[in-house]
Amino acid sequence: MSVIERLLRREGEDTSTTIGGVTIEPMRRRDLRHGVMDIEAVSYPRPWSQGVFESEIAQVRSGGRRYLVARRSSDGGGRRGPVVGYAGLWFAAGEGHVTNVAVAPGHQRRGVATALLLGLAEDARRRGCTAWTLEVRVSSTGAQELYRRFGFAPAGVRTRYYENTEDAIVMWCNDIQEADYAELLETIRRELDR
Ligand SMILES: CC(C)(COP(=O)(O)OP(=O)(O)OC[C@H]1O[C@@H](n2cnc3c(N)ncnc32)[C@H](O)[C@@H]1OP(=O)(O)O)[C@@H](O)C(=O)NCCC(=O)NCCS
Repeated sequence: MSVIERLLRREGEDTSTTIGGVTIEPMRRRDLRHGVMDIEAVSYPRPWSQGVFESEIAQVRSGGRRYLVARRSSDGGGRRGPVVGYAGLWFAAGEGHVTNVAVAPGHQRRGVATALLLGLAEDARRRGCTAWTLEVRVSSTGAQELYRRFGFAPAGVRTRYYENTEDAIVMWCNDIQEADYAELLETIRRELDR
């Protein structure tokens, strides 16, 4: 793909979209201090440091990464609400690798992660990825169900991947450029908007 094609495909990625009452927009450095680091700290036994996030965000400009935050409007009056979740994608060799998905405990089970994954899926398709993949803890059965809804299926196990203790299930979702996959995403989006 030429540089111009790549730039055209990335057009529109700077704007925000609202999915199921959740606003999805690109993660900015200032979001780290205003929500992201707090959510990260309560989401994982070994949270990423601010430096890791900064290094990831620094790779967005060159097209190697994509990071999104989710906000809920606090007063319903159009004011920007606080960051309630975020998710990231690493682009490599025509595939997208989900690096992180987390939602503030008080905002879970309300479709925030679903809205974030819809955003990432659209970006992966726009960038020409043919598949996307992720690792998930064996114990995170709720997250596995979320990913299953997006068409991810278990493809292998990385032994003691987390803290040298817990196994990771590797999940893959293939053929994401196909019309069937676009339809699945549209169905998920419609359910969220209901
Ligand atoms: C996993 C996580 C991101 C899900 O976020 P969320 O915003 O609550 O997810 P959604 O509301 O979009 O859930 C969509 C569906 O996924 C499944 N799901 C999500 N969390 C679940 C849970 N704790 N238990 C069971 N099912 C769950 C359900 O099928 C859910 O649909 P339903 O609420 O209609 O039943 C969130 O629990 C989290 O941040 N966990 C800590 C960090 C983490 O483990 N991240 C994943 C790393 S691989």
